[in-house]
Amino acid sequence: MTDSNKSATLTVHGETYELPVYSPTTGPDVIDIRKLYSDAGVFTYDPGFTSTASCDSTITYIDGEKGELLHRGYPIDQLAGKSHFLEVCYLLLYGELPQAKDLEQFETTITRHTMLHEQMQYFYRGFRRDAHPMAIMVGVVGAMSAFYHDSTDVSDPHQREVASHRLIAKMPTIAAWAYKYHIGQPFVYPRNDLDYASNFLRMCFAVPAEEYEVNPILSRAMDRILTLHADHEQNASTSTVRLASSSGANPFACIAAGVACLWGPAHGGANQACLEMLEEIGSVDRIPEYIDRAKDKSDPFRLMGFGHRVYKNFDPRATVMKQSADEVLDLLGVENNPKLQVAKALEKQALEDPYFAEKKLFPNVDFYSGIILEAMGFPTSMFTPIFALSRTVGWVSQWKEMIADPQNKIGRPRQLYLGETTRDYVDIENR
Ligand code: SDX
Repeated sequence: MTDSNKSATLTVHGETYELPVYSPTTGPDVIDIRKLYSDAGVFTYDPGFTSTASCDSTITYIDGEKGELLHRGYPIDQLAGKSHFLEVCYLLLYGELPQAKDLEQFETTITRHTMLHEQMQYFYRGFRRDAHPMAIMVGVVGAMSAFYHDSTDVSDPHQREVASHRLIAKMPTIAAWAYKYHIGQPFVYPRNDLDYASNFLRMCFAVPAEEYEVNPILSRAMDRILTLHADHEQNASTSTVRLASSSGANPFACIAAGVACLWGPAHGGANQACLEMLEEIGSVDRIPEYIDRAKDKSDPFRLMGFGHRVYKNFDPRATVMKQSADEVLDLLGVENNPKLQVAKALEKQALEDPYFAEKKLFPNVDFYSGIILEAMGFPTSMFTPIFALSRTVGWVSQWKEMIADPQNKIGRPRQLYLGETTRDYVDIENR
């Protein structure tokens, strides 16, 4: 952080304190409160971390007002249009776009780590067939620490590198096999002659009974979806991974914690919830009823795929996703997809409603992604696993950055205690 000669003055209980202020390369300044409790005997209070920077990072920058998302300085719309997912993985992990030879070596390394230890299949057989694929992913990703013992020592840079590659490479296999197990079809092994997105599609949709040709339209669309979900600053699941990692837990356990957090409908589970919402709305003429429900404080219903803690203008990923939805459905000949029509009409009507304008609620990355994934043949239960397999590179990149930071220490927030003061135990006969 660029040290500025700026400072913040705070007066607490009649005492005045000067707190250092640091300026980022871009974005808001931060006030360093690390010594506040030891100097002034007070905590700051910020449930949900709406005004708190938990770390410094060089990976991803988001400007919520401008609707800007940069990965190592490169705008997401340029990466989605000109790059591809494994190149974005390299960029997130190592900080620069790769030279051709480095990219080829990286892609070869990832490709050659896509298989799972053969015994890991037995974990799947322990789940009910109707288990949600995210329940399986949480379990199997955590179980990786029971297999890959040679890449669990976080103090060893080489083991950190191997764990990073294994997680990025194996997540599509884990997700695809969760889907295959869910539908009762045999597992399909990865192929080294296919690119990352094509391999994933083939592991999901191929069956032993016939050859499976990957549709290049779907493969390109899948690759773009993976690029759009790769990383997103200090979101809930990334913060979960960072906090879990701060105790020194092994990388597989920490990424499993990220998978668990992402599952929530307020976070990565919103893509599944959004498509289920569009299905429930069913037709354009029912949209006003649902917009009224979303505005009704007494109704817990929210427009899924709408709103964002940071974006208060538009989510640049949603813009790209909407274009991709139009292209993919048109190319697939899915004319007048009813859910796409409802989604477009819902977006239009919501954005014309003062409530959403006042609260700065716009479609987020989850609003259109489900429509594309459904058109590809995925059930809604696979939407969040696909988000998780993409976000793995973001979690891993942020984890590597944190572990390598000499300032890294265990995360241990405090609280505003509103419970009972000390009182003596009362025997049951006297209560
Ligand atoms: C992701 O953080 C990230 O970067 C996440 C993510 C990533 O890539 O990692 O971008 C991925 O998680 C996207 C968000 C997916 N979630 C949804 O689409 C679920 C629906 N959205 C909301 O639940 C909500 O908008 C959040 C959780 C996304 C953001 O919640 P905040 O920032 O805590 O905002 P809030 O809940 O305090 O809402 C502010 C106001 C409230 O009204 P008031 O109490 O001020 O009167 O806006 C209202 C809310 O009731 N509101 C909505 C709404 N979202 C917020 N009202 C109706 N529908 C909605 N979707």
